[in-house]
Amino acid sequence: MKFSIISTLLTATLAVASPIELKYGNESLNRPLVHFTPNHGWMNDPNGLWYDEKEELWHYYFQYNPNDTVWGLPLYWGHATSKNLTTWDQEKIAIEPLSDDSGAYSGSMVVDYNNTSGFFDNTTDPRQRAVAIWTYNTPDSESQYISYSTDGGYTFTNYDSNPVLTINSTQFRDPKVMWHDETQKWIMVVAKSQQFKIAIYSSPDLKNWTHESDFTQEGYLGFQYECPGLSRFTVPQTNETGFTNSSSTDKWALFISINPGSPQGGSSTQYFLGEFNGTHFTTDHSNTNVIDLGKDYYALQNFFNSPDGSVYGIAWASNWAYCNFVPTDPWRSSASLVRKFTLEEFQANPETSILNIKSTPVIDYDSLNFGETSSYHNETLDTENPINYDLAKNFDGLIEFNLTYRVNNSAFGKADFADLSLYLIGEANSNEYIQLGFEGNAASFFIDRGHSEVPFVQNPLFTDKISVNNQPSQYINSQVSEYKVHGIADRNILELYFNDGSQVSTNTYFFTGGNFIGQVQLEVGIDDVFQIEEFEVRQMTLKI
Ligand SMILES: *[C@@H]1O[C@H](CO)[C@@H](O)[C@H](O)[C@H]1NC(C)=O
Ligand SMILES: *[C@@H]1O[C@H](CO)[C@@H](O)[C@H](O)[C@H]1NC(C)=O
Ligand SMILES: *[C@@H]1O[C@H](CO)[C@@H](O)[C@H](O)[C@H]1NC(C)=O
Ligand SMILES: *[C@@H]1O[C@H](CO)[C@@H](O)[C@H](O)[C@H]1NC(C)=O
Ligand SMILES: *[C@@H]1O[C@H](CO)[C@@H](O)[C@H](O)[C@H]1NC(C)=O
Ligand SMILES: *[C@@H]1O[C@H](CO)[C@@H](O)[C@H](O)[C@H]1NC(C)=O
Ligand SMILES: *[C@@H]1O[C@H](CO)[C@@H](O)[C@H](O)[C@H]1NC(C)=O
Ligand SMILES: *[C@@H]1O[C@H](CO)[C@@H](O)[C@H](O)[C@H]1NC(C)=O
Ligand SMILES: *[C@@H]1O[C@H](CO)[C@@H](O)[C@H](O)[C@H]1NC(C)=O
Ligand SMILES: *[C@@H]1O[C@H](CO)[C@@H](O)[C@H](O)[C@H]1NC(C)=O
Ligand SMILES: *[C@@H]1O[C@H](CO)[C@@H](O)[C@H](O)[C@H]1NC(C)=O
Ligand SMILES: *[C@@H]1O[C@H](CO)[C@@H](O)[C@H](O)[C@H]1NC(C)=O
Repeated sequence: MKFSIISTLLTATLAVASPIELKYGNESLNRPLVHFTPNHGWMNDPNGLWYDEKEELWHYYFQYNPNDTVWGLPLYWGHATSKNLTTWDQEKIAIEPLSDDSGAYSGSMVVDYNNTSGFFDNTTDPRQRAVAIWTYNTPDSESQYISYSTDGGYTFTNYDSNPVLTINSTQFRDPKVMWHDETQKWIMVVAKSQQFKIAIYSSPDLKNWTHESDFTQEGYLGFQYECPGLSRFTVPQTNETGFTNSSSTDKWALFISINPGSPQGGSSTQYFLGEFNGTHFTTDHSNTNVIDLGKDYYALQNFFNSPDGSVYGIAWASNWAYCNFVPTDPWRSSASLVRKFTLEEFQANPETSILNIKSTPVIDYDSLNFGETSSYHNETLDTENPINYDLAKNFDGLIEFNLTYRVNNSAFGKADFADLSLYLIGEANSNEYIQLGFEGNAASFFIDRGHSEVPFVQNPLFTDKISVNNQPSQYINSQVSEYKVHGIADRNILELYFNDGSQVSTNTYFFTGGNFIGQVQLEVGIDDVFQIEEFEVRQMTLKI
């Protein structure tokens, strides 16, 4: 349709594409910079996220198979640490399964300040009394184990009376534990996966657990529930047009991941807002919320503890439908960026606003070097005059952009494809690019990640065209609406935050190894529809 400019770009083929017989091969070596990846081996769910107040250090563990680049047993807890939530150092394996046919499956970490477990003496600082609660998977059962660390989360000792919780099931996993101040108890949410139950247990000491309630068959079920999480939020200030149903300032969110069978295809993470009274979670609504509308955001877990009391979390940035084929080597899978989650009042449409979890990416810009930055303001784009430029050569980093645009709904007809398209184009091979943008009739933001010479993109489960219905960030007048998108493209993963994070879409993409984004083009399909308020693009890379 509108590829004239792209086709005139300098094309230098870097690598000969592998024959198609090497179905879904591993040609992409483009390891992300600010999204954690293991040095080698397979990674899935984030586990045990906690913040060490003494060392001011963030800990992130993950499901890890160091012996292969596909999921398999024995499965370990890998480990990484960060000072700034932007760059991570991989540490030694933290928790091991007891035998090679078993797995140290997903779980969480708490800081047992008050030594309720009795595991700690005064040689361990109260702020570092880390206890992991995790699922031990064997061919016969899944049960909950605990392990404690006296060295700040690096090495762990298994409790000698494990398991602490067992129900004679092979589908009972992913305990997420938090401290509940009001009842002075530990609270666990854990999946009875194939019963579609999130079970809630309480304990005074992390060892003796009492079943309190089940949250059953809510939202999308898919094949099974996994990786639950319960987090406390503060309700935003209300005004006369705002909400009237908040007698307290707290609101709880229960997160549930489902796989397979997500409506987005494969796996995804949903959540419910409601009340938690120490024993029961009750949701305020019967609709399902999806925390990220992309294809690659699963098993979200939030940190235990944070210096400012806010909710921070990490998800696995992949999808079970195709994760084992993803063309990276010698590792597979990345983590999402860390996100800060807050509650906001979200204008779902002109008549109704709802409570919504807003996502803000956490990026420590001091950890990064800036390359080329280009800025455009207040430009009306027409079909003859796209914005088109080359970024600095051989920068090989990540691309961040902010795009704020106004759409004039009176300037296009029902049969017009009224798009604003942003192309992020490979520097070494311009046949590889991502097309993303907004189309007026659908009022949706689209992503097309299918323009790649890497055979993997032909995997029919790796949906190449994805879209998100967008609400305006602002209604300017009866015809004109404003929209905002903030994007981070980190070598093989693209995170898009719409309207300051009211909606998010995270999707991986794969170009031939060594082909990094080097050209940017912004163009429109119809004249007089789009006004660009702001378009800033910045290249960034890690400080050495
Ligand atoms: C990719 O796959 C091929 C064939 O399986 C293998 O020989 C090679 O080591 C892998 N890694 C890279 C970086 O090509
Ligand atoms: C898997 O990796 C671990 C950690 O590197 C190693 O100790 C173990 O021997 C390996 N197991 C198998 C079955 O390869
Ligand atoms: C961010 O933290 C990492 C280690 O986690 C460190 O290597 C890096 O220097 C830090 N960056 C800054 C700017 O402090
Ligand atoms: C620790 O004990 C104090 C005092 O009883 C209590 O207020 C606090 O909630 C407890 N915190 C944890 C994490 O156990
Ligand atoms: C923690 O509890 C255990 C068991 O009650 C006890 O032996 C130990 O001294 C306690 N640690 C501290 C620091 O009080
Ligand atoms: C640990 O330290 C606390 C505070 O200094 C003290 O009250 C307690 O007796 C100590 N416990 C042990 C077992 O030494
Ligand atoms: C555990 O469950 C299995 C399979 O449902 C059943 O055969 C077995 O009798 C159960 N064991 C106990 C102790 O309940
Ligand atoms: C476990 O907790 C329950 C309820 O608090 C209590 O009745 C029971 O005695 C405890 N069991 C042990 C072994 O501590
Ligand atoms: C109430 O708050 C919403 C959301 O912040 C805002 O859009 C609206 O303009 C406010 N209304 C009044 C009357 O202040
Ligand atoms: C918590 O809520 C449940 C369900 O509404 C109710 O049965 C229970 O009594 C409540 N518990 C407390 C401590 O309020
Ligand atoms: C763009 O136009 C808006 C008004 O539509 C104005 O507020 C803003 O300052 C302008 N920005 C620049 C950089 O000219
Ligand atoms: C994009 O917007 C975010 C959020 O306001 C800001 O932190 C970031 O620096 C901006 N980046 C660019 C390239 O303008």
